[in-house]
Amino acid sequence: MSRDAAMSPFTKAVYEGFSASPKFLPSWMFYDDRGDQLFRQIMAMPEYYLTDCEKEIFESQGSSIGEFVAGVSGQLEIVEPGAGDGAKTEILLEKWSSQGCQLKYVPIDISPHVLNLLKDRLSHSLPKIDVRPLALSFEQAFEKLHQTGSKRLFLFLGSNIGNMPMEKSIEFLRKIRNMMKEEDLLLVGFDLKKDPEIILSAYDDPHGITAAFNLNLLRRINRELGADFKVENFSHYASYDPVSGQARSYLISKKQQMVYISELGRSFAFDQWEPIHTEISAKFSTGEINRIATQSGFQILMYFEDKRAYYRNVILGPKLKQDSSV
Ligand code: AVJ
Repeated sequence: MSRDAAMSPFTKAVYEGFSASPKFLPSWMFYDDRGDQLFRQIMAMPEYYLTDCEKEIFESQGSSIGEFVAGVSGQLEIVEPGAGDGAKTEILLEKWSSQGCQLKYVPIDISPHVLNLLKDRLSHSLPKIDVRPLALSFEQAFEKLHQTGSKRLFLFLGSNIGNMPMEKSIEFLRKIRNMMKEEDLLLVGFDLKKDPEIILSAYDDPHGITAAFNLNLLRRINRELGADFKVENFSHYASYDPVSGQARSYLISKKQQMVYISELGRSFAFDQWEPIHTEISAKFSTGEINRIATQSGFQILMYFEDKRAYYRNVILGPKLKQDSSV
Protein backbone atom coordinates (compact mmCIF):
# COMPACT_ATOMS: atom_id res chain seq x y z
CA MET A 1 0.00 0.00 0.00
CA SER A 2 2.21 2.85 -1.22
CA ARG A 3 -0.26 5.51 -0.20
CA ASP A 4 2.56 7.84 0.88
CA ALA A 5 3.63 8.87 -2.65
CA ALA A 6 0.09 9.84 -3.61
CA MET A 7 -0.64 11.97 -0.55
CA SER A 8 -0.88 15.75 -0.81
CA PRO A 9 1.34 17.70 1.62
CA PHE A 10 -1.76 18.51 3.68
CA THR A 11 -2.91 14.87 3.88
CA LYS A 12 0.60 13.71 4.69
CA ALA A 13 1.01 16.27 7.48
CA VAL A 14 -2.29 15.24 9.09
CA TYR A 15 -1.33 11.56 8.83
CA GLU A 16 2.10 12.18 10.39
CA GLY A 17 0.81 14.50 13.09
CA PHE A 18 -1.93 12.14 14.23
CA SER A 19 0.39 9.11 14.11
CA ALA A 20 2.91 10.82 16.40
CA SER A 21 2.93 10.80 20.16
CA PRO A 22 2.18 13.40 21.39
CA LYS A 23 -0.05 14.34 18.44
CA PHE A 24 0.62 17.60 16.61
CA LEU A 25 -0.42 19.62 13.55
CA PRO A 26 2.01 22.02 11.81
CA SER A 27 1.09 25.69 12.16
CA TRP A 28 1.16 26.44 8.39
CA MET A 29 -2.13 24.52 8.31
CA PHE A 30 -3.98 27.42 9.98
CA TYR A 31 -4.01 29.53 6.86
CA ASP A 32 -6.80 28.43 4.56
CA ASP A 33 -9.31 31.12 3.48
CA ARG A 34 -11.20 30.90 6.77
CA GLY A 35 -7.92 30.84 8.75
CA ASP A 36 -6.65 33.94 6.93
CA GLN A 37 -9.86 35.71 7.84
CA LEU A 38 -9.63 34.68 11.50
CA PHE A 39 -5.98 35.71 11.63
CA ARG A 40 -6.94 39.18 10.37
CA GLN A 41 -9.46 39.33 13.25
CA ILE A 42 -6.71 38.28 15.67
CA MET A 43 -4.47 41.10 14.44
CA ALA A 44 -7.29 43.57 15.04
CA MET A 45 -7.88 42.53 18.69
CA PRO A 46 -6.41 44.78 21.41
CA GLU A 47 -4.98 41.71 23.20
CA TYR A 48 -2.86 40.81 20.17
CA TYR A 49 -0.36 43.62 20.73
CA LEU A 50 2.24 42.31 18.24
CA THR A 51 0.69 43.86 15.14
CA ASP A 52 0.08 47.21 16.83
CA CYS A 53 3.69 47.34 18.06
CA GLU A 54 5.16 46.61 14.65
CA LYS A 55 2.84 49.16 13.05
CA GLU A 56 3.87 51.75 15.66
CA ILE A 57 7.55 51.11 14.91
CA PHE A 58 6.98 51.43 11.15
CA GLU A 59 4.81 54.55 11.49
CA SER A 60 7.24 56.35 13.80
CA GLN A 61 10.62 55.08 12.56
CA GLY A 62 9.89 53.74 9.06
CA SER A 63 11.62 56.67 7.36
CA SER A 64 14.87 56.13 9.29
CA ILE A 65 14.71 52.43 8.46
CA GLY A 66 14.22 53.39 4.80
CA GLU A 67 17.20 55.74 4.73
CA PHE A 68 19.35 53.03 6.22
CA VAL A 69 18.25 50.13 4.00
CA ALA A 70 17.83 51.89 0.65
CA GLY A 71 21.15 53.74 0.86
CA VAL A 72 22.27 56.17 -1.82
CA SER A 73 20.92 54.36 -4.89
CA GLY A 74 17.37 54.31 -3.51
CA GLN A 75 16.73 51.11 -5.45
CA LEU A 76 15.52 48.13 -3.54
CA GLU A 77 14.05 44.73 -4.20
CA ILE A 78 12.02 43.68 -1.17
CA VAL A 79 11.51 39.94 -0.64
CA GLU A 80 9.07 38.92 2.08
CA PRO A 81 8.53 35.30 3.11
CA GLY A 82 5.20 34.95 4.97
CA ALA A 83 3.87 38.28 3.73
CA GLY A 84 0.25 37.50 4.60
CA ASP A 85 -1.99 40.48 3.90
CA GLY A 86 1.07 42.78 3.87
CA ALA A 87 -0.68 45.50 5.90
CA LYS A 88 2.41 46.29 8.00
CA THR A 89 4.71 46.13 4.99
CA GLU A 90 2.47 48.58 3.15
CA ILE A 91 3.34 51.23 5.75
CA LEU A 92 7.02 50.83 4.82
CA LEU A 93 6.36 50.68 1.08
CA GLU A 94 4.31 53.84 1.27
CA LYS A 95 6.93 55.76 3.25
CA TRP A 96 9.85 54.56 1.20
CA SER A 97 8.31 55.25 -2.17
CA SER A 98 7.36 58.76 -1.08
CA GLN A 99 11.02 59.16 0.00
CA GLY A 100 11.80 58.57 -3.68
CA CYS A 101 12.89 54.93 -3.54
CA GLN A 102 12.33 52.70 -6.55
CA LEU A 103 10.82 49.53 -5.22
CA LYS A 104 10.14 46.04 -6.42
CA TYR A 105 8.17 43.91 -3.97
CA VAL A 106 8.15 40.09 -3.94
CA PRO A 107 5.69 38.84 -1.29
CA ILE A 108 5.86 35.08 -0.66
CA ASP A 109 3.03 33.21 1.02
CA ILE A 110 1.50 29.74 0.86
CA SER A 111 -1.93 31.35 0.67
CA PRO A 112 -2.70 32.48 -2.91
CA HIS A 113 -5.89 34.03 -1.52
CA VAL A 114 -4.11 36.66 0.64
CA LEU A 115 -1.54 37.35 -2.09
CA ASN A 116 -4.28 38.21 -4.58
CA LEU A 117 -5.89 40.58 -2.09
CA LEU A 118 -2.50 42.16 -1.44
CA LYS A 119 -1.62 42.63 -5.11
CA ASP A 120 -5.02 44.16 -5.86
CA ARG A 121 -4.76 46.55 -2.95
CA LEU A 122 -1.23 47.69 -3.81
CA SER A 123 -2.06 48.17 -7.48
CA HIS A 124 -4.48 50.88 -6.32
CA SER A 125 -2.67 52.41 -3.36
CA LEU A 126 0.90 52.22 -4.69
CA PRO A 127 0.69 51.73 -8.49
CA LYS A 128 4.35 52.66 -9.01
CA ILE A 129 5.61 49.62 -7.11
CA ASP A 130 6.36 46.52 -9.17
CA VAL A 131 4.63 43.71 -7.22
CA ARG A 132 5.55 40.09 -8.06
CA PRO A 133 3.85 37.67 -5.65
CA LEU A 134 5.03 34.08 -5.27
CA ALA A 135 2.32 31.72 -3.97
CA LEU A 136 4.77 29.02 -2.94
CA SER A 137 6.34 27.44 0.12
CA PHE A 138 9.49 29.25 1.29
CA GLU A 139 11.69 26.43 -0.04
CA GLN A 140 10.09 26.53 -3.50
CA ALA A 141 10.18 30.32 -3.60
CA PHE A 142 13.83 30.50 -2.53
CA GLU A 143 14.77 28.27 -5.46
CA LYS A 144 13.07 30.72 -7.82
CA LEU A 145 14.92 33.77 -6.51
CA HIS A 146 17.78 33.83 -8.96
CA GLN A 147 20.56 36.36 -8.40
CA THR A 148 19.78 39.90 -9.46
CA GLY A 149 21.98 42.96 -9.67
CA SER A 150 19.74 45.05 -7.45
CA LYS A 151 20.13 45.39 -3.73
CA ARG A 152 17.77 43.15 -1.81
CA LEU A 153 16.04 43.59 1.50
CA PHE A 154 14.54 40.45 3.00
CA LEU A 155 11.66 40.94 5.44
CA PHE A 156 10.59 38.45 8.06
CA LEU A 157 8.00 40.30 10.08
CA GLY A 158 5.21 39.71 12.57
CA SER A 159 7.41 37.58 14.85
CA ASN A 160 6.91 34.72 12.40
CA ILE A 161 10.42 33.73 13.50
CA GLY A 162 8.82 32.67 16.80
CA ASN A 163 6.83 29.94 15.07
CA MET A 164 9.92 27.75 14.87
CA PRO A 165 12.01 26.13 17.58
CA MET A 166 15.30 28.04 18.04
CA GLU A 167 17.42 25.60 16.00
CA LYS A 168 14.96 25.73 13.08
CA SER A 169 14.91 29.52 13.10
CA ILE A 170 18.72 29.60 12.93
CA GLU A 171 18.59 27.13 10.03
CA PHE A 172 15.96 29.25 8.27
CA LEU A 173 17.91 32.51 8.67
CA ARG A 174 21.05 30.76 7.46
CA LYS A 175 19.19 29.83 4.26
CA ILE A 176 18.35 33.49 3.72
CA ARG A 177 21.94 34.44 4.59
CA ASN A 178 23.20 32.09 1.88
CA MET A 179 21.06 33.79 -0.76
CA MET A 180 22.35 37.25 0.14
CA LYS A 181 24.96 39.40 -1.50
CA GLU A 182 27.27 41.41 0.75
CA GLU A 183 25.16 44.58 0.50
CA ASP A 184 21.79 42.85 1.02
CA LEU A 185 19.94 43.25 4.31
CA LEU A 186 17.39 41.44 6.42
CA LEU A 187 14.75 43.05 8.66
CA VAL A 188 13.29 40.70 11.28
CA GLY A 189 10.48 41.30 13.81
CA PHE A 190 10.98 39.74 17.26
CA ASP A 191 8.32 39.70 19.96
CA LEU A 192 10.19 40.36 23.22
CA LYS A 193 9.82 38.64 26.59
CA LYS A 194 7.50 40.65 28.82
CA ASP A 195 4.87 40.22 31.56
CA PRO A 196 3.65 36.62 31.08
CA GLU A 197 0.03 37.73 31.65
CA ILE A 198 0.20 40.08 28.68
CA ILE A 199 1.64 37.35 26.46
CA LEU A 200 -0.88 34.73 27.56
CA SER A 201 -3.88 36.97 26.90
CA ALA A 202 -2.65 37.54 23.32
CA TYR A 203 -3.08 33.78 22.72
CA ASP A 204 -6.13 33.21 24.92
CA ASP A 205 -8.43 36.11 24.17
CA PRO A 206 -11.84 36.62 25.82
CA HIS A 207 -13.55 37.02 22.41
CA GLY A 208 -12.88 33.41 21.44
CA ILE A 209 -11.24 34.45 18.17
CA THR A 210 -7.97 32.59 18.83
CA ALA A 211 -10.02 29.54 19.87
CA ALA A 212 -11.93 29.68 16.58
CA PHE A 213 -8.62 30.07 14.71
CA ASN A 214 -7.19 26.98 16.41
CA LEU A 215 -10.38 24.90 16.05
CA ASN A 216 -10.55 25.82 12.35
CA LEU A 217 -7.76 23.24 11.88
CA LEU A 218 -10.29 20.49 12.63
CA ARG A 219 -12.93 22.08 10.42
CA ARG A 220 -10.36 22.29 7.63
CA ILE A 221 -9.57 18.56 8.01
CA ASN A 222 -13.32 17.86 7.88
CA ARG A 223 -13.70 19.97 4.73
CA GLU A 224 -10.61 18.88 2.83
CA LEU A 225 -10.12 15.29 3.95
CA GLY A 226 -13.71 14.24 4.63
CA ALA A 227 -13.16 13.76 8.36
CA ASP A 228 -15.93 13.63 10.95
CA PHE A 229 -14.46 15.74 13.77
CA LYS A 230 -17.13 16.98 16.16
CA VAL A 231 -15.48 20.31 16.83
CA GLU A 232 -17.47 20.87 20.04
CA ASN A 233 -15.64 17.84 21.51
CA PHE A 234 -12.36 19.78 21.46
CA SER A 235 -11.22 22.92 23.24
CA HIS A 236 -8.53 25.54 22.68
CA TYR A 237 -5.82 25.67 25.34
CA ALA A 238 -2.92 28.15 25.38
CA SER A 239 0.00 28.30 27.80
CA TYR A 240 3.07 30.48 28.28
CA ASP A 241 6.34 29.28 29.81
CA PRO A 242 8.42 32.27 30.93
CA VAL A 243 11.61 30.15 31.10
CA SER A 244 11.68 29.02 27.46
CA GLY A 245 9.69 32.06 26.33
CA GLN A 246 7.33 29.78 24.43
CA ALA A 247 3.62 30.41 24.09
CA ARG A 248 2.11 27.08 23.06
CA SER A 249 -1.33 26.30 21.67
CA TYR A 250 -3.14 23.00 21.87
CA LEU A 251 -6.45 21.44 20.93
CA ILE A 252 -7.67 19.25 23.78
CA SER A 253 -9.93 16.24 23.23
CA LYS A 254 -12.63 16.66 25.86
CA LYS A 255 -13.66 13.01 25.65
CA GLN A 256 -12.42 9.66 24.47
CA GLN A 257 -13.38 9.50 20.80
CA MET A 258 -12.64 8.06 17.38
CA VAL A 259 -12.42 10.27 14.32
CA TYR A 260 -12.66 8.86 10.81
CA ILE A 261 -10.72 10.52 7.98
CA SER A 262 -12.06 9.25 4.68
CA GLU A 263 -9.12 10.52 2.60
CA LEU A 264 -6.85 8.31 4.75
CA GLY A 265 -9.38 5.47 4.92
CA ARG A 266 -8.90 5.06 8.65
CA SER A 267 -9.78 6.32 12.10
CA PHE A 268 -7.66 7.90 14.81
CA ALA A 269 -8.28 7.49 18.53
CA PHE A 270 -8.20 10.45 20.90
CA ASP A 271 -8.06 9.81 24.64
CA GLN A 272 -9.98 12.00 27.02
CA TRP A 273 -7.87 15.17 27.66
CA GLU A 274 -5.33 14.16 25.02
CA PRO A 275 -3.67 17.26 23.50
CA ILE A 276 -2.87 18.00 19.85
CA HIS A 277 -0.01 20.50 19.83
CA THR A 278 -0.69 23.11 17.13
CA GLU A 279 1.66 26.08 17.57
CA ILE A 280 4.72 27.58 19.21
CA SER A 281 5.04 31.39 19.40
CA ALA A 282 8.42 32.10 20.94
CA LYS A 283 9.32 35.34 22.76
CA PHE A 284 12.90 36.58 22.81
CA SER A 285 15.43 38.20 25.11
CA THR A 286 18.23 40.44 23.82
CA GLY A 287 20.71 37.62 24.45
CA GLU A 288 18.64 35.19 22.39
CA ILE A 289 18.31 37.65 19.51
CA ASN A 290 22.08 38.14 19.51
CA ARG A 291 22.68 34.41 19.55
CA ILE A 292 20.25 33.73 16.69
CA ALA A 293 21.86 36.50 14.63
CA THR A 294 25.46 35.40 15.11
CA GLN A 295 24.76 31.70 14.78
CA SER A 296 23.03 32.24 11.45
CA GLY A 297 25.92 34.29 10.04
CA PHE A 298 24.62 37.82 10.59
CA GLN A 299 25.59 40.92 12.49
CA ILE A 300 23.03 43.25 14.03
CA LEU A 301 23.35 46.66 12.37
CA MET A 302 20.46 48.54 13.96
CA TYR A 303 17.27 47.95 15.88
CA PHE A 304 13.99 49.73 16.54
CA GLU A 305 11.45 49.29 19.35
CA ASP A 306 7.95 50.48 20.16
CA LYS A 307 7.45 52.85 23.12
CA ARG A 308 6.53 50.08 25.54
CA ALA A 309 9.53 47.97 24.42
CA TYR A 310 7.25 44.99 23.74
CA TYR A 311 8.64 44.34 20.27
CA ARG A 312 11.87 44.82 18.30
CA ASN A 313 12.64 45.10 14.59
CA VAL A 314 16.26 44.23 13.90
CA ILE A 315 18.27 45.00 10.76
CA LEU A 316 20.77 42.25 10.03
CA GLY A 317 23.63 42.28 7.54
CA PRO A 318 25.79 39.35 6.42
CA LYS A 319 28.73 38.87 8.74
CA LEU A 320 31.83 38.76 6.62
CA LYS A 321 33.89 35.58 6.76
CA GLN A 322 36.97 37.11 8.39
CA ASP A 323 35.15 38.28 11.51
CA SER A 324 33.35 34.99 12.15
CA SER A 325 35.19 34.64 15.47
CA VAL A 326 32.02 34.32 17.59
C1 AVJ B 1 1.62 34.92 12.67
C2 AVJ B 1 2.77 33.11 13.66
C3 AVJ B 1 3.30 35.33 14.32
O1 AVJ B 1 2.36 33.17 16.62
O2 AVJ B 1 1.74 35.18 17.14
C4 AVJ B 1 -1.65 34.46 16.46
C5 AVJ B 1 0.04 33.43 14.77
N1 AVJ B 1 -1.43 32.33 16.50
N2 AVJ B 1 -2.46 33.95 17.41
C6 AVJ B 1 1.79 34.23 16.36
C7 AVJ B 1 -0.98 33.41 15.88
C8 AVJ B 1 -2.33 32.66 17.42
C9 AVJ B 1 1.15 34.41 14.99
N3 AVJ B 1 2.19 34.43 13.93
